[in-house]
This record gives sequence, C-alpha cells and structure tokens, in this order.
Amino acid sequence: MIVMTAESRERVREYFDALGDAEWHRLTGDIRGRVSLEVHRRLLARFVRPGHRVLEVGAGPGRFTAELAALGATVVVTDLSPVQLALNEERLRGSAAEAAVERRELLDVCDTGRYADGEFDLVLAYGGPLSYAFEQAGAALRGLFRITGPGGAVVGSVMSLLGAWRHFLPGAVGVAEAIGEDANDLILRTGDLRHKGEPGGHVCRMFRAGDLTALVEAAGGEVVALSASNWASLGDLDALASLEADPDRWARFLEHEIAACQEPGAVDGGTHILFAARHRPS
Ligand SMILES: C[S@@+](CC[C@H](N)C(=O)[O-])C[C@H]1O[C@@H](n2cnc3c(N)ncnc32)[C@H](O)[C@@H]1O
Repeated sequence: MIVMTAESRERVREYFDALGDAEWHRLTGDIRGRVSLEVHRRLLARFVRPGHRVLEVGAGPGRFTAELAALGATVVVTDLSPVQLALNEERLRGSAAEAAVERRELLDVCDTGRYADGEFDLVLAYGGPLSYAFEQAGAALRGLFRITGPGGAVVGSVMSLLGAWRHFLPGAVGVAEAIGEDANDLILRTGDLRHKGEPGGHVCRMFRAGDLTALVEAAGGEVVALSASNWASLGDLDALASLEADPDRWARFLEHEIAACQEPGAVDGGTHILFAARHRPS
C-alpha cells in the first residue's frame, strides 16, 4: 500500500529540507554529474531568449537560476522546500544572477493556480518536480501549460526508470531482496518508488520516455525535444577521467555525448529524461 499524495508531498519536502546544501553539489561532484549538467544547460539554451520571463519550479539551490540569468531571462524562483529556497538566496547573494530574480516563493508544482494564463514565456522544472508530483503529475503539467500559454514552453527533467534500473542495478537487486519480487515488479511496472514501503527516505516516480510523452499529450501538450541526461558517460569511469583530463578530447566527447543522448534509442538510457514541450494548438 502506498501513502496518499499529501503525505508523499510532506515526505519529499522533509527529504529536501534535510538534504540542504548537498543538493548544490549533485551536478558537479563527479564526472557523470558534470556531463548531466552540460546536457541540461544545452537544452535550456535552445529555448530561453533574452528578456524571457521564467517560472523556475523546484529551483533548489540555484544552479539553473544562475543559468537562466546568464541567458538573459528574469526569474520567479520557487520551491516546495523552504530550506532549498533559502539556499537559493544564499548561493546567489552578491552574484550578477541575483539581479535577474524577480522574487522567491514557496510553490508546489501541483498548485500553480495563483499565476495568470500565459504570464510566463517558459516554465523550467529541472531535477524532478514532476517526478515528485506522483498521481498529480498530469494535472500539474496542465497547469504549467496554462501559465505559459500557446507560445511558451515547459522544459524539465524527470527520473528515468530504465536508465536508473540499469545504472543502479546492484541497489535495485538489493531492494528486490529486501521487499520481495512482487513489490519489485510493481516498481518496475509503475516507476513508483513508494512501493518500497519504507517509512522514510527518498521516493519519486520514475518514467519511461513513452510514459512521459503520454503524460504531456494527455495534458494538452506536445513534446518538442527529448534527451537522456547521460549515455556513454554512465560507462567506465577511468575512461571518462582520461577524457576529462584533456580539454580538447573532453569537448569532442561532450558533443558526441549530447548528440547521442537525443537519439531515440538512447533517451531512456540516462538517470534522467529531459524534455521540452509546448501547448498543443487545438
Ligand atoms: C533534485 S532537486 C533539483 C534542483 C534544481 N532544479 C536542479 O536541477 O539542480 C529537486 C527540487 O525539487 C523540489 N521539489 C520537490 N517536489 C516538489 C514539488 N511538488 N513542487 C515543487 N518543487 C518540488 C525539491 O525541494 C528540490 O529543491
């Protein structure tokens, strides 16, 4: 039995409050994270233009708030976690990016009713806010399309079911041993980590690319870009380290990696799936 949505939300908030500043290092602390950061940056740069007004959902400590500022956007910075929102202010204080922040406020991605139709050019939801919306993800996405309007875009990333299963296989095998194969089958079918049945810890809903596309379409949108967060960079760490040590080879590798991540055969293969979507004209 999985817990109800409101309890799940509280659990996620507690998780990110407790995680605190560790979230800042997630995309810089190791090579795979640095590749994922670059994949996320490149997708964002395809959709943000100078002067855009952006709602950033689940902004965390501000890695992409700074990116949005560098791309010339103004940003309403939001998060479910008051601790993450405070860290966002701390991290950006005194930086050039702070001037691009219009305001900061607490926001659940499922609760965007306070914003007007079409008031933003773009909504950014990187790092899984829709993975934490569980059964409300579709309604949340519909709300994001409403506030961006017909010309706008929603750019985000969710946790990847198949890529995470492959990358974290030893952990997944351990989970199956602990909770039983039936519960494990349920996780692999639904992507919902709440089926682990533990009282605390990290939970989210992981997606297949097909699930994500279906969710976007059911919410009245169309997917205009899809990418894995990693492809070859989930492979051998020593090989990656020698590539990263050589700036020319690293730049070439990143170009190949970013192109590979967008191949239809690769989009499920990273730990996250990135997407850009627009309101579908009716
Ligand atoms: C993994 S962090 C990503 C931070 C940042 N966007 C990035 O990609 O580096 C996920 C963030 O989403 C926030 N979050 C989780 N559930 C949310 C929800 N229902 N609504 C809004 N934000 C949420 C968390 O508090 C956390 O700051």
